[in-house]
Amino acid sequence: MNAPLPVEVLKQHLIDPEICIRCNTCEETCPVDAITHDSNNYVVDPEICNGCMACVPPCPTGSIDNWRLVVRAEAYSVQDQFGWEELPQEKSLPLDAAGADDAAQQVAADPQAEPATPPATLVTPGAAVPPWSAAHPYVNLYTHKTPITATVVGNYRVTGADTESDIHHIVLDFGEQPFPVLEGQSIGILPPGVDAMGRPHHARQYSLASPRDGERAGYNNLSLTVKRVTQDHGGEAAHGVCSNYLCDLAKNDTVQVIGPFGHTFLMPNHPKANLIMICTGTGSAPMRAMTERSRRLIGTADIGKLMLFFGARTERELPYFGPLMKLPRDFIDINLALSREPGQPKRYVQDLIRERAAQVRGLLTDRNTCIYVCGLKGMEVGVLDALREVVVQSGEDWSILHEALRREGRLHFETY
Ligand code: A2P
Repeated sequence: MNAPLPVEVLKQHLIDPEICIRCNTCEETCPVDAITHDSNNYVVDPEICNGCMACVPPCPTGSIDNWRLVVRAEAYSVQDQFGWEELPQEKSLPLDAAGADDAAQQVAADPQAEPATPPATLVTPGAAVPPWSAAHPYVNLYTHKTPITATVVGNYRVTGADTESDIHHIVLDFGEQPFPVLEGQSIGILPPGVDAMGRPHHARQYSLASPRDGERAGYNNLSLTVKRVTQDHGGEAAHGVCSNYLCDLAKNDTVQVIGPFGHTFLMPNHPKANLIMICTGTGSAPMRAMTERSRRLIGTADIGKLMLFFGARTERELPYFGPLMKLPRDFIDINLALSREPGQPKRYVQDLIRERAAQVRGLLTDRNTCIYVCGLKGMEVGVLDALREVVVQSGEDWSILHEALRREGRLHFETY
């Protein structure tokens, strides 16, 4: 008589709904489209996930890095995961479960499974590691269950009052409570109230616009750059729950904050490190933080070159235009790409990268240079193409340089 077949075990990949900030990074990164979401949760399809780990380093919270050993036939379905408010407890496996030990190393002993490493062309174009000299970031100090209360100490508009782009500079103070941050990190804001299903709103993620020592040096505060959302990506009227909440806040109002998040989009900390910063609209927040950090170091540290490419519709819709233009030209090389300025040709940041090819190339080939791209999703391809062209023009191999930039944590993207 044949012995019964042992039960097959799966190391199931799951996302912790209590920590996840629904930033969509994992869904965008997954090379096999195993990650999806509904209005409640981001989930991993056990039928598709091959455990390649491509989604793990880019996740700003670490909520993606959760695994459960389950009997394959009883794996949690996508529908199960959509309904979760928290991860399920570990279940004990039947004694005849096969491969439980192996499963801890590999997704499953499945001969059909994809290789564990995704093809290089499918992973994100940016680095999954920070620059070697970046300071150590703290993440997840405050979560959905344990948020911190901040007080609004400033909220004002940083774009022309007569323009469509209503962008606010919002300063939050944490008083005596610890909230250590680095330039390039982000925080989550919990808007009050509930969604259409009656559930509390999820946190919305915003990049810091201020440096590590505070919006005002020496104060325990930070700033955000928030655009009031009145339209969706297709141009249809839409009310952004959190952006409208934030833009309408008054001084002394309190806000529930979680985070900080992010462990890769960080600035280098070593002398003579150069920064190429490429942004559109509110993607300028981390660039403002890094620029201000560098500015405060003038005279005390050997700072490298700063080159900024900043895209906006018009000068009046470019957040922080006034203060930016007051920065000394020998400190930062500013290139403004205006797309709807009356009487001027439409220009995008990638056009200016091409125009400044010699300077960009010079910096790109210096191992002390880090590149940061933040803003509209659509700019990602255009910027990469421009960088490639600039390098190829001088007879160099872009694929080798691109790989080095990624490996050395010198090329970072944050797009939405
Ligand atoms: P456009 O005038 O074509 O929309 P927004 O104000 O919507 O946040 O956009 C900021 C800037 O980014 C605008 O100048 C916008 O130009 C520009 N932009 C839009 N799409 C891209 C893209 N694919 N690459 C680079 N810049 C872009």
